[in-house]
Amino acid sequence: MSKIILTGDRPTGRLHLGHYVGSLHRRVILQDSGEYDKIFIMIADAQALTDNFDNPEKIRQNIIEVALDYLSAGLDPRVSTLFVQSQIPELTELTFYYLNLVTVSRLYRNPTVKAEIQLRNFEANIPAGFLCYPVSQAADITAFHATDVPVGQDQLPMLEQTREIVRRFNAIYQPILTEPEALLEENSVYQRLPGTDGKAKMSKSLGNCIYLADPPQVVEEKIMNMYTDPLHVKVSDPGHIEGNTVFTYLDAFCRPEHFPEFLPEYESLEQLKAHYQKGGLGDVKIKRFLNRILQKELEPIRRRRKEYEKDIGAVYQILKEGSQKARNTAGATVDQVKRAMRIDYFQDGELIKAHMDKYENENR
Ligand code: TRP
Repeated sequence: MSKIILTGDRPTGRLHLGHYVGSLHRRVILQDSGEYDKIFIMIADAQALTDNFDNPEKIRQNIIEVALDYLSAGLDPRVSTLFVQSQIPELTELTFYYLNLVTVSRLYRNPTVKAEIQLRNFEANIPAGFLCYPVSQAADITAFHATDVPVGQDQLPMLEQTREIVRRFNAIYQPILTEPEALLEENSVYQRLPGTDGKAKMSKSLGNCIYLADPPQVVEEKIMNMYTDPLHVKVSDPGHIEGNTVFTYLDAFCRPEHFPEFLPEYESLEQLKAHYQKGGLGDVKIKRFLNRILQKELEPIRRRRKEYEKDIGAVYQILKEGSQKARNTAGATVDQVKRAMRIDYFQDGELIKAHMDKYENENR
């Protein structure tokens, strides 16, 4: 069986370091592993509209930003098909048939959707499209016969719902849909990067993000203002590393070769941590070290972004060609689905013949 990846992001803003460690970097590694026969990366604008329907302009402006972030992070359009969800009407078509395979109470039970409803104060007035977006996500995944869906923890309920839909479809009609697996990041350091203020999550509304497109000085400034250990007042004070954002980021980004390059007085992160805990190591020093590491990581991303920014026409062309390719694949799946559901009337010779025979007999 071919190994096929499908995943994507809602284009509600530029991508930040949280997206990078949580998903983007990993996609590039999966892409470059050569283990996958096909890779589809989707800009999920239609899903983003389910809770931004009154602000399509925000989504519209961010399509190209997310595409630039993808390309600059190292997704290669010759290997990974980058496409825009709304340009594949076949996904909407599949969604409509899959909606018959879920109950309203099941939709209400999805824990991620539940949390999002609360967050958006939708309780009294949930848009039906929002409640149903997990079904559209099942369409996204199955349209490409995806076997592997690299996602974060919060997306596991979507995968579970997708698998349920696949099983029902295959049992009721014909077994043509593929049950996907989530490809979850094992390392908890990468699962959720805190904001620069130490809050649990990087989020645009909290203003605690480092964006992939931030210029070097901005990154440095954000790091120098980063939340550390409020009890570590003087350099000589013993410091805490738990909940200390600088160390959390070092856990995510620091590699052994960074020490000889940027901080040769230390040999390892363990040694650095031990010194901080004992006292005598100042915040500025660890922040400078983190800054060197992050600048090095972000430099090639920034450079690629600058190149692509020079030719936005080419970026649109990549999305357009990707969407055409995605549409061909999704179209073939819709054909299969309609055949399995026996609603492919004009290709259904058996049905046409049966009716011909019936009326021929009756009118004889
Ligand atoms: N729900 C995902 C998110 O919020 C985006 C998404 C839409 C997606 N369709 C998908 C992810 C299909 C994986 C597979 O980030």
